[in-house]
Amino acid sequence: MGESIPSWTYQYELKENRKTYIELINKVFDSGRLILGKELETFENNFSKYIGTDFAIGCDNATNALFLILKSIGIKKDDEVITVANTAIPTVSAIRQSGAKPVFVDVNENALIDTTKIKEVISSKTKAIIAVHLYGYPCDIEEIKKISDKYSITIIEDCSQAHGASIKGKKIGSMGDFSAFSFYPTKPLGAYGDAGIICTNNLEKYELLKKLRFYGIEKDYIAEVNGYNSRMDEIQAAILNFKLKKLEKNIEERKNIAEIYYKNLSEEIFSPIPMPINSNCSYYLVPFYFSGDRDRFQNILMSYGLGTNVSYKNPIHLMKAYKDLGYRNNDLPKTEMFCQHNISLPIFNSMPKEIAYDVVNIVKKVLVKF
Ligand SMILES: Cc1ncc(COP(=O)(O)O)c(C=O)c1O
Repeated sequence: MGESIPSWTYQYELKENRKTYIELINKVFDSGRLILGKELETFENNFSKYIGTDFAIGCDNATNALFLILKSIGIKKDDEVITVANTAIPTVSAIRQSGAKPVFVDVNENALIDTTKIKEVISSKTKAIIAVHLYGYPCDIEEIKKISDKYSITIIEDCSQAHGASIKGKKIGSMGDFSAFSFYPTKPLGAYGDAGIICTNNLEKYELLKKLRFYGIEKDYIAEVNGYNSRMDEIQAAILNFKLKKLEKNIEERKNIAEIYYKNLSEEIFSPIPMPINSNCSYYLVPFYFSGDRDRFQNILMSYGLGTNVSYKNPIHLMKAYKDLGYRNNDLPKTEMFCQHNISLPIFNSMPKEIAYDVVNIVKKVLVKF
């Protein structure tokens, strides 16, 4: 049996909005401007207002957004950047691309950076911390801030999975020195292609970042600094402007789906990965901890046509590309444990509730076998 319930699809939300998207694309076609035009300017303004920062810089994706942030703070070879290995590869590849060395901290019971372990890895070479709000669960930014203030380290929030999440009423992405968001299609606010954005309150860095994303140019095609190409196109910006208006409603609907799962599926062998207290998450994923053989569980669910998501299966510190960093098995025990046992149930924008109940029925049927 193939996958009859996918872990993610854009087809439901496309069906709802296709007509509007076509109109928006036609508007861009007619505008005569396909890159760095009015749509991006409007989206940058709307998004920074929504997050609660003074500035936003639209980029081609979040990997490059993170890279540009690191470049803007003058990261150079042999500097160190602290982050987690329980993240998407791009968090780490952006650090590598900047020339710096990634330094990993293990995670806590929420699968997020364990703030009690950060001090142990700070050295004279530490320049930044990238806090990853994995699954849309907010990291303890207040605690990270205390550490970064003490050691003068830049805080970069990787909000690629956390659009609209908040802590005590403050939006994720507004509390660090910089934040990067991905609009990869699977995200709660997803483009119809690649896109990303940087948010900051720092005027000087904002001006530098705008140059860095456009070959180092401010105007007149004169490069003032060594730059790159990391522009968001007008079609993605137009679609994101429209989707931003629906983000809060989409998060609410995602929460309703998650609650169907939480209410009906919580057993000793299969329980939700706990959300941090005092925070609202974005419901990017609904991650569970399966304490048995997760891969077998996932395969059996698939034989019933149910697709699931594992984020992530392989810990980054043990991947071939990062062997030179010298990490070994069991160096980050909680990270390795989550990689072995996490599994997320289907969730996507405009997901009908009936599908969530079908998911519950299949999972219940399969759990009996364990
Ligand atoms: C935590 C995290 N960081 C960074 C990225 C990179 O985003 P992009 O694909 O837009 O470069 C992603 C995307 O999957 C992500 O989930």
